[in-house]
Amino acid sequence: MRKPVHRNPPQPVTFVIFGATGNLSRQKLLPALYQLEVAGRLAEGTRIVGFGRRDWDDEAWREEVRRLCLAGGEEPCPEDEAIDRLLPKLHFLNGDINESSCFENLASRLEKAEFPDCVVFYFAVAPSAFGAICRNLGVCGLTDESRGCRRAVIEKPFGHDVDSAHALDGLLHQYFDERQIFRIDHYLGKGTVQNIMVMRFANLLLEPLWNRNYIDHVQISHAEQQGIEGRGGYYDSAGALRDMVQSHLMQMLTLVAMEPPASMDAEAVRDEKVKVLRCIRPISHRGVHAQAFRAQYARGTVEGINEPGYLDEPGVPADSVTETYAALKLYIDNWRWRDVPFYLRTGKRLAKSHSQISIRFREPPQQLFRETQISNTVPNWLLIGIQPEENFRFEVQIKTEGLEMRTRTVQMDASYTGPVPPNLDAYASLLLDAINGDQTLFLRYDEVSWAWRVVDPILRNWAVERDYIPTYPAGSWGPPEADRLFDSDSHRWRNNLKIPGED
Ligand code: BG6
Repeated sequence: MRKPVHRNPPQPVTFVIFGATGNLSRQKLLPALYQLEVAGRLAEGTRIVGFGRRDWDDEAWREEVRRLCLAGGEEPCPEDEAIDRLLPKLHFLNGDINESSCFENLASRLEKAEFPDCVVFYFAVAPSAFGAICRNLGVCGLTDESRGCRRAVIEKPFGHDVDSAHALDGLLHQYFDERQIFRIDHYLGKGTVQNIMVMRFANLLLEPLWNRNYIDHVQISHAEQQGIEGRGGYYDSAGALRDMVQSHLMQMLTLVAMEPPASMDAEAVRDEKVKVLRCIRPISHRGVHAQAFRAQYARGTVEGINEPGYLDEPGVPADSVTETYAALKLYIDNWRWRDVPFYLRTGKRLAKSHSQISIRFREPPQQLFRETQISNTVPNWLLIGIQPEENFRFEVQIKTEGLEMRTRTVQMDASYTGPVPPNLDAYASLLLDAINGDQTLFLRYDEVSWAWRVVDPILRNWAVERDYIPTYPAGSWGPPEADRLFDSDSHRWRNNLKIPGED
């Protein structure tokens, strides 16, 4: 999946961040650029231009970035050398994305010799602002590649439904070719997510079992203790289904369900992912209730701290029915997966922050080691910890000690990371790919579009059901009513990597 470009010497580029003072830039992009600097992955000539509405000059922004990157660090440490290398690369341009004159200022700034000719534009803004940026870049000649490459990194959600995604893609293509467009889903930059492919395609033992004959169901779950962290404006117009499911969870589903690709080339891998999305059984208008569930967090306690309900968060309208929890059940109608339920779930302000894929195998056909024929057999599970624990666990049955022929469950553990966590996070790894022009881990438009087709019927239903949304207390695992999605009484969420009953 990953070409060996990271071994090449880093290329100097000009990195322009639209929305430089916003949440995404502060929480993800600038720390990721700092990590790249620490790791020696930013070429010396790299320039990072923050474009934003604050009335800042270069010095003010540098001071802000210094504080951000070194937050928590008390004593000077070796990494301070990295901040000293990073800060002179930073420049700030005060501007409004709706004003073409501001883009003219940007164009004349970029003409100065110190800015590398290859320019990566990062759209770290609300989706509603993508159009204005594209048009102004185009009008001011900033997409012209006669002097060097021009790339656009577009954050999710890419549109807010099939039609708007199509319109956005059309707009982007007025100014950029497909090879210049990098639709980012930062989950594809996570080592554990990439490891799903390695686990499946570098090992033979799973493949014969990886189908409807042996797998009972699949769970893909992402839980967060955090609320919306001051992002009320964006989040209330998106909701959990658009924010997490259409993108990150659907990407994980494709990696679990795809066929082995012809090669690890970007196009071969993306072709297989698209085939999975195309095979997802469409949810009919009448089927939404049976296949999808939404809810919103109410006031509650997370780790002993009282937290407000969603409606009390800044920027959220008092009558909002936006979901902060979404669960759905999908079926993939192909030879490998027909009738195997895939349960997807995400939620804010849940009991723990935890992402995990749990695969339950079918039960053995005969109960040889139980006291009676009616006592339940215990199925095997494969648990894939995405975060915070990064590992694979197989749950198998072994004999208990002693004379009796009884079984107990044990876990076989394959940790993905060692004791030292990786020093490049998902954003750092993907920014490096964008700098190097490697599109493998970015989304092709047909992936985005087919993922929208899966969730669109649900979104349409929820958009008209505006008078009621179930709630769950902050700090819980979401409303128990969501269990109605399960196909069998024996199905229930795995909330962690521990053996049930021992958690
Ligand atoms: C982002 C969503 O894409 O992913 C956030 O907009 C969410 O709402 C975040 O919190 C989760 O990412 P991670 O890497 O922290 O699991």
